Amino acid sequence: MSKALDGVRILDFTHVQSGPTCTQLLAWFGADVIKVERAGEGDATRGQLRDVPDADSLYFTMLNHNKRSITLDTKKQAGKEVLETLIKQCDVLVENFAPGALDRMGFTWERIQELNPRMVVASVKGFGPGPYEDCKVYENVAQCAGGSASTTGFDDGPPLVTGAQIGDSGTGLHLALGIVTALYQRNSTGRGQKVLTAMQDAVLNLCRVKLRDQQRLEHTGVMEEYPQFSDGRKFGDAVPRAGNASGGGQPGWILKCKGWESDPNAYIYFIAQAPVWKSICQVIGREEWITDPDYATPRARLPRLMTIFATVEEWTKTMTKFEAMDILNKYDIPCGPILSMKEIAEEPSLRKTGTVVEVDHPKRGKYLTVGNPIKLSDSPTEVTRSPLLGEHTEEVLTQLGYSEQQIAALREERVI
Ligand SMILES: CC(C)(COP(=O)(O)OP(=O)(O)OC[C@H]1O[C@@H](n2cnc3c(N)ncnc32)[C@H](O)[C@@H]1OP(=O)(O)O)[C@@H](O)C(=O)NCCC(=O)NCCS
Repeated sequence: MSKALDGVRILDFTHVQSGPTCTQLLAWFGADVIKVERAGEGDATRGQLRDVPDADSLYFTMLNHNKRSITLDTKKQAGKEVLETLIKQCDVLVENFAPGALDRMGFTWERIQELNPRMVVASVKGFGPGPYEDCKVYENVAQCAGGSASTTGFDDGPPLVTGAQIGDSGTGLHLALGIVTALYQRNSTGRGQKVLTAMQDAVLNLCRVKLRDQQRLEHTGVMEEYPQFSDGRKFGDAVPRAGNASGGGQPGWILKCKGWESDPNAYIYFIAQAPVWKSICQVIGREEWITDPDYATPRARLPRLMTIFATVEEWTKTMTKFEAMDILNKYDIPCGPILSMKEIAEEPSLRKTGTVVEVDHPKRGKYLTVGNPIKLSDSPTEVTRSPLLGEHTEEVLTQLGYSEQQIAALREERVI
């Protein structure tokens, strides 16, 4: 079956996580992704957090599926010439080097335009134009600068980063959308364009509700769905950390379930959704709350939310998170178990949909990865293993028109 991005060729000049997640997605949609890596070492993540001696790390393999790898020293003149050939023959260049690195290599936007005016040049940077534009940035820096850390955690503790890689993988997702949009526009204009996603911007976009809350706080001085309100604590002038409160209009909290004393994930997320309030009261055996004016309406409940959650927790503590799920779902009460990575890895339905995939690798054997979370009915994804360093150098150079002798000479000069 054909793929959505068949015929699109990507010069993948990315490393670490943010850029590679973007090009991996494009590869899953059918683009031919040629990853250009420095001869000898390659993407630094190949050797980071290794769990199997001499095999590419899971960090690398899980971010670089379905790509081809070529080695190239783009600081050498002959390497620059190969890069020029690649630029002429590719549709998109994706990079996430430190600010200015591509220019220093001699590949400014103007130069790339000269070589290929149809090329889309897509970049991840830590910050957009402004005081920090020259800074190098990793995941947690972006989480902190994008508003996530200051709003995550409990207000009697320090700011917290989240395990979701919203700075890296989140930015990669944003960039992928920018690229396909630019390719779409190229259909009518015939021209490429620059696509920039700053990690700070991507994180802030994902923290949109917190900027909403900042303005609500300035208007009203309180946020009634936050635990601080229910606990009678004072609000300051910036959005506080909301613990496990829901970010929307339906109050929620994480509650203990049977086994919580020894199992760190024996918890359930419980939402006291207004339309099912009657059912909630019936399920937990507090029918009097259905008509009690202190509990009967969403507004009346707001100052009592933490008491309500503590009462529901007395009920959830008597059963496992899955038993609680089964009962609550019968009444359409929104809830979700706190799943450990072990439980997710073993979940059959995720294997069935290709969201969790087992892949075979010549050096490390079988491993699990996260497949394409975006499912297209006419462009199914088959996840294939990440390339070994330089595995496709000769194949790609031959495709680009290099002869055997030229390839041998490049090898001799240590350009590839
Ligand atoms: C991630 C980051 C902090 C890593 O920094 P770093 O390891 O020092 O790597 P850099 O991006 O600075 O690149 C290092 C050098 O390698 C060079 N290089 C990269 N590939 C090369 C190749 N194939 N051949 C020759 N040189 C190469 C670059 O040109 C650069 O040289 P320069 O410093 O002389 O200009 C930085 O790349 C960055 O801030 N990127 C943008 C934000 C980002 O994506 N962060 C998330 C990472 S998950």
